[in-house]
Amino acid sequence: MPRGLFITLEGLDGSGKTTQIKRLAAWLKQRDPAEGVVLTRQPGGTVTGDRIRSLVLDSRSIGLAPMTEMALMFADRAQAIAEVIQPALDAGKIVLCDRFTDSTEAYQGGGRELGSAPVLELHRLLCANLQPDLTLLLLPRLDFSLARARHRNQHVETNTGLNETRFEQEQDAFFTRVWQKYHEIAARDPARVLLIEGDLTIDQVHEQIVAAVSKCLRTLAPQKPA
Ligand code: TYD
Repeated sequence: MPRGLFITLEGLDGSGKTTQIKRLAAWLKQRDPAEGVVLTRQPGGTVTGDRIRSLVLDSRSIGLAPMTEMALMFADRAQAIAEVIQPALDAGKIVLCDRFTDSTEAYQGGGRELGSAPVLELHRLLCANLQPDLTLLLLPRLDFSLARARHRNQHVETNTGLNETRFEQEQDAFFTRVWQKYHEIAARDPARVLLIEGDLTIDQVHEQIVAAVSKCLRTLAPQKPA
């Protein structure tokens, strides 16, 4: 059985990742209804991961040390790999994951200034250095993304009582460092990371994603029509 395909979506809060991942999943299913597509997200995606998610995203988690935050992100990821991602890849499925280790490198490595080295080292130790086949990195304008994310999460809290605003409460300087680290990752690994920047419409971003995923499907699974 060939290994499935592992695709991650990355970007700042409010970059439109969630809309795009849903559209990509729908496109893949329409292209081949028999295709196994697994949609997951980090932090979260498992029962343990959802508990870690509420701990780490809740703005009432006051005083989490950056190292603790990074360790929690990796605890969540190790569980998701064991429970969801690796079994799906072993079964030849396509896994679409909303955020993966690039997020830890950008947010904890860049934003919290822990640097890339401990993140990459923990990824080797705890995640067997599992690498996505393709990473779609959405970086629309920083100010637009932040305004959208802050507004959205306020709305979510009002409607559901879910409090997930711990990161949105960070200052713009934090997100500028996240943004810079994402650019650094894209420059370091252009064969894996497709950087989609600028003020594009939802349809334009979707078109770029479909083109990249089609190419990836042709390269990695020549037995399947793309
Ligand atoms: P989420 O509500 O999933 O936001 P989004 O829709 O923007 O992805 O929140 C995830 C938050 O967690 C987001 O602010 C980024 C942060 N995060 C990290 O700081 N490190 C990580 O390793 C991951 C996976 C997420």
